[in-house]
Amino acid sequence: MKLTPPPFKEMDVLEYPLSFLIIIMCFTYFAWWSLSNKWWKSSSVPINWPVVGMLPGLIRNAHRIHEFTTDILVEYKGTFMFHGPVFANLNMLNTSDPANIHHILSRNFSNYQKGPEFRKIFDILGNGIFNVDYELWEIHRKITMSLLGHAKFQKLLERNMWEVIDNSLRPTFEVFAEQGTVFDLQDIFHRFGFDVISKLLLDHDPKSLSLDLPHVPCEKAFTDASDALLYRHILPEGCWKLLKWLQIGTEKKLSRAWEAFDQYLYPCISRKLEKLMNKTRKDEDLDVFTSYIEAYNQWKDGDLGTLQTFLRDTFLSLIFAGRDTSSTALTWFFWMLSKNPLVEKRIRQEIQQQLHLKEDENLKFFKVEETRKLVYLHGALCETLRFFPPVSIEEKIPLEYDILPSGHRVSPNMKIILSFYTMGRMESIWGKDCLEFKPERWISQRGGIKHESSFKFPVFNAGPRTCIGKEMTFTQMKLLAATIIYNYQIQVEDQIISPSSSIVMQMKHGLKRFLGKFMRVGDDVEGQVHAIMDKKTDGCTIVHRSKDIEEVEWNSLDFEKRNLLVDE
Ligand code: HEM
Repeated sequence: MKLTPPPFKEMDVLEYPLSFLIIIMCFTYFAWWSLSNKWWKSSSVPINWPVVGMLPGLIRNAHRIHEFTTDILVEYKGTFMFHGPVFANLNMLNTSDPANIHHILSRNFSNYQKGPEFRKIFDILGNGIFNVDYELWEIHRKITMSLLGHAKFQKLLERNMWEVIDNSLRPTFEVFAEQGTVFDLQDIFHRFGFDVISKLLLDHDPKSLSLDLPHVPCEKAFTDASDALLYRHILPEGCWKLLKWLQIGTEKKLSRAWEAFDQYLYPCISRKLEKLMNKTRKDEDLDVFTSYIEAYNQWKDGDLGTLQTFLRDTFLSLIFAGRDTSSTALTWFFWMLSKNPLVEKRIRQEIQQQLHLKEDENLKFFKVEETRKLVYLHGALCETLRFFPPVSIEEKIPLEYDILPSGHRVSPNMKIILSFYTMGRMESIWGKDCLEFKPERWISQRGGIKHESSFKFPVFNAGPRTCIGKEMTFTQMKLLAATIIYNYQIQVEDQIISPSSSIVMQMKHGLKRFLGKFMRVGDDVEGQVHAIMDKKTDGCTIVHRSKDIEEVEWNSLDFEKRNLLVDE
């Protein structure tokens, strides 16, 4: 049979050159894309894929987001543009450059308000201080500053703290010590922080810190909410909204946390309002509620919801600020001490000298004012905050086009992530010894506390929105740290430590397996555990813990590589 060729079509003439052209174009694009991504080189920067951008790399590293960002920012000298998927509006400029921080948080503050994007992510905080701008923010700030700065508030703080230490912390620790219980120190600090702030603001002690460590849903909800809120920064809005709608993953946890907050706060608020109605207020009384109620009544726009809702938003924001931050900082602080026994010893000496304690005397009480004398302790706390800023990132969105001091152009709707975590670890900011734990860094030549610019050390933010609770935090941390350090010898069990992926940078698995076996000061401390950094194996540094080593400082910090503890 004779094969007849298919009939000639006009299209065929066009098809071959067109296919050829497409192949050439694809090849050129691939060559350009692979060149621009330097994919054959080893770099911390994720590949910028067509369409999805750097999102796959970001998701893959979400569990180690702080380290991941730090590697990139160090490589890119402090500012780096992250490219998100084409249609997701997820391009983010990451910066840890102090000049940019100064510009954004202070010099051009009016261009970097919180805005609707921030409110969407932090919808759980409603009209609380963290979420609002302009006039409502000014009102919140004025009231909160006058409250926290009030002399009576300081007294109340001192009284409440000692009450929780004496009635809850000490009895719990005594039993743990006697029974040799292994417990999670981070959990203890969270409970402590929650009880103190709740007593201060709501006049209600939830007693979450007690011997049986009861499950208090609202107290636990803070941790869940913090985790979920970080994911809202990373995922495209449509993605987390879908998770919310489907009620799965972190969004499910966030909804439960929301419920737990409301179930705790509304009854407390109603009780307090009832009490206020039945009481004639004297001028000298310090009432946390009254000024906020007055502000609510004077607010003209009527968009704050009911009075109860406004108070719920206000106090939830303050409890958020007060509960998680200080307790997280304290957890990292005690972990750092376990790596630096010499620092711990010096702190103990300072407490003894400055508070005039006898050799075998326990520390039972000291006044808030006396915490100012504890300069070395202050330095050690600042050093911890430098490495582990509880608020590790902050997000800003410009209202108008701007050029940052680093030369980067930013446009409205572009996310700017300020990485405070990275800033604490940059050689360009802290010098060659930036990865060493040195409380001395914070002590002036005259022996006082050395202040660093808040643009170099923005742990408490900087500019007009600087943290209002800084003083309160140091008071709280010093009272608690001094009490524990002076009265107990805490021993660390081996564990792998890493920061959590959370909006407040907690310790991922807590400081569990911290052995609750205490020795009174003055007892034989021969068995005290010391740590020394030792040989490197497979890129990890093994830390041998030994009883023979005298006073060895373990200073280096790099969690990806140096978090493995091995018993001798
Ligand atoms: C280690 C402890 C603390 C750290 C690291 C810290 C850090 C910060 C940071 C970074 C901000 C800025 C947040 C933002 O603008 O989104 C902030 C704001 C704030 N902090 Fe703190 N904070 C701490 C403890 C406290 C405490 C105990 C309180 C008191 C309840 C408090 C009250 C506030 C308030 C009210 C603001 C809002 C200021 C404003 O927007 O004008 N903070 N804090």
